[in-house]
Amino acid sequence: ATTTAYQAENATITNGVVESNHAGYTGTGFVNYDNATGSSVQWSVTAAATGSATLSIRFANGTVTNRPMDIAVNGTTVASGVAFNGTGAWTTWQETSLTATLNAGANTVRATATTAGGGPNVDKLTV
Ligand code: GCU
Ligand code: CA
Ligand code: CA
Repeated sequence: ATTTAYQAENATITNGVVESNHAGYTGTGFVNYDNATGSSVQWSVTAAATGSATLSIRFANGTVTNRPMDIAVNGTTVASGVAFNGTGAWTTWQETSLTATLNAGANTVRATATTAGGGPNVDKLTV
């Protein structure tokens, strides 16, 4: 199926900053979440039709500590405490995927850090 990339650096960022100092990102950079509970990135995602979609988040975590996040679609949490484990380096990017139902047309997808470490660095969401 066709997929669309939604860059984190173009999304709505709450308590985080756009940076580009760790290689391997796509687009023009990534979001460095503040190291705090509640820091988040929210994307606006367009779906052609109502139905199940695969949401993939590309991230890097240069620590050895999980940086879990809750994933919400249209304001409802659809996955709690999704693991964003250490990737070995801030320049090593991996993807984690989940399935969620999207509405036809406009949707929001939000990834919110649930621990004091904040989120990982996030490059993009692919749907
Ligand atoms: C380092 C790294 C950042 C990262 C931060 C963190 O400062 O350069 O990109 O976001 O660690 O621990 O969250
Ligand atoms: Ca950070
Ligand atoms: Ca990016």
